[in-house]
Amino acid sequence: MRLADCHNIEDFRALARARLPFPVFDYIDGAADDEITRARNTAAFAEVDLVPDVLAGVEHIDTSCTILGRRSPLPLMLSPTAVQRAFHWQGETAVARAAAKFGLWFGISSLATRSIEEIAALTSGPKLFQLYVHKDKGLNDHMIARCKAAGFDALALTVDTIVSGKRERCLRSGFTTPPRFTTRALWSYATRPRWTLDYLLRERFRLPNLETHVAEGTRKAVSIAEYFNTMLDVSMDWETAARIRENWGGTFVLKGVMSAGDARRAVEIGADAIMISNHGGRQLDGSRAPFDQLPEIVDAVGGKIEIICDGGIRRGTHVLKALCSGASAASGGRLYLYALAAAGEAGVARALAILKDEIERGMRLMGVKHIAELTPDRLRRR
Ligand code: LAC
Repeated sequence: MRLADCHNIEDFRALARARLPFPVFDYIDGAADDEITRARNTAAFAEVDLVPDVLAGVEHIDTSCTILGRRSPLPLMLSPTAVQRAFHWQGETAVARAAAKFGLWFGISSLATRSIEEIAALTSGPKLFQLYVHKDKGLNDHMIARCKAAGFDALALTVDTIVSGKRERCLRSGFTTPPRFTTRALWSYATRPRWTLDYLLRERFRLPNLETHVAEGTRKAVSIAEYFNTMLDVSMDWETAARIRENWGGTFVLKGVMSAGDARRAVEIGADAIMISNHGGRQLDGSRAPFDQLPEIVDAVGGKIEIICDGGIRRGTHVLKALCSGASAASGGRLYLYALAAAGEAGVARALAILKDEIERGMRLMGVKHIAELTPDRLRRR
């Protein structure tokens, strides 16, 4: 299988699986406990059907919409995800470049393997920083100051990762940051020489936004769960969120809101947007899917705050269904990560081209010329 054989996101997943050592693939692909929520995130979209209109004269369509206060050419953004250098040697650079090519929002994690400044220098396109609140307050302030100085366009506060979900595939594989060659996975590393040589011979794995303050993750190998459970501030609350918003002063997003009550509080503290998200099913297994939760959140805060549906998106029609349900836009991590892992920047660009094409085709087949025409009456629950 080659990149040219990838025609949908699932194809990139298959290619990534073939090219990555299993601990790395399972870190991307895996989720918490029984992975029920991860599966539901995508399955939820199959329980509603689009109702197309025909003869709508759809030669010219406009796929643009507003995301985080800016015009975006597509109702889609690339959610921030961690440690991308572990997936492909080009890491966040590949994602930033591919996103810029399509004019899309993307984000880097606090656990990114490229620095805030490197990413800012790469693209003037819209970029977001995903903040994990650490116990070390100096580190939090330092990251926020660096984002301000580098001209990041939005800050997303992660609110669903107060402790780590139980990622059982990682417990079995021994995945760490930086990745280590464990005996149990040695065969897998040996039979994926391209990944292994790129990992060993290209630039060193680093977490440059954290290494000023912590050795874990860069100089000391730890699992992601250990990192979260020892480094993050479990006492974080609404006051913390309000303080961070004030300190940042710019476009502010809460990433990981799932309840209508929390969505209302997000409005109260002056957030500009919420990402309805369960962290790709990687945190609380057995929790609701973002798409299932959309209607009640839209009822509670629709029009008062941007609502970004983050989770399970694999198809252009999933984006359309999210918009019909009242989301301002859709977002996803794995939808570009499999492609990054499979083929770097070229992979991400191909995945985005496929999703763009699917969104455009879907709109034409729906008889829809503008995003605003994607309304709840265009959906039916079975
Ligand atoms: C994870 C974090 C790093 O889900 O976002 O693994």
